[in-house]
Amino acid sequence: MYCRMREMEHTEVGKPESLEDLIKILHQIFESDNINVEEVQNIMEAYESNPQDWMKHAKFDQYRYTRNLVDEGNGKFNLMILCWGEGHGSSIHDHSDSHCFMKLLQGQLKETLFDWPENKSKGEMVLKSQRILQENTVAYINDSIGLHRVENGSHTECAASLHLYCPPFQACQTFDQRTGHTNIAKMTFWSKNGERTPFETTVSQENN
Ligand SMILES: [Fe+2]
Repeated sequence: MYCRMREMEHTEVGKPESLEDLIKILHQIFESDNINVEEVQNIMEAYESNPQDWMKHAKFDQYRYTRNLVDEGNGKFNLMILCWGEGHGSSIHDHSDSHCFMKLLQGQLKETLFDWPENKSKGEMVLKSQRILQENTVAYINDSIGLHRVENGSHTECAASLHLYCPPFQACQTFDQRTGHTNIAKMTFWSKNGERTPFETTVSQENN
């Protein structure tokens, strides 16, 4: 199975000079089936965001945040850039048993963590913690940590974030904060490698 966690081993890697360089290093790291979360987090954090590197993927929509596929990681991971307009946010969602790394490329995002609802038929979901993610920092989550909602709380600044999912997934669950009721949300891409995706594939609800 992909991405089993590795505690002790480390692959020595240098500081990525560009997004392209970071992608090359990620490919090297993910050649191994045992991936160390901290190592991936560190290398993503070591890349200093340069908008020139990722401009072509930064496609904003007026109404909703967009997901833009950057690299398919030889089938082992998906790398994408999410573009958040002012006030845009996700639903509360899980990560389909995958690892999720999220690096701020520009702006700030608010991450709110929730516990899994204990009983699907019962009330308000429990808020665990909240934090503001700053530029260049990398957050990590998986289903054992909990659920989260991600928002660009700013009404004057947009935000962009780089997300790595391992293994890639096509759908996740979303949760109604008041009831804990779930829905399935299919993953779609606004663009792939800088090219706008045909409309018919982007009609369903987007979450990540
Ligand atoms: Fe997420």
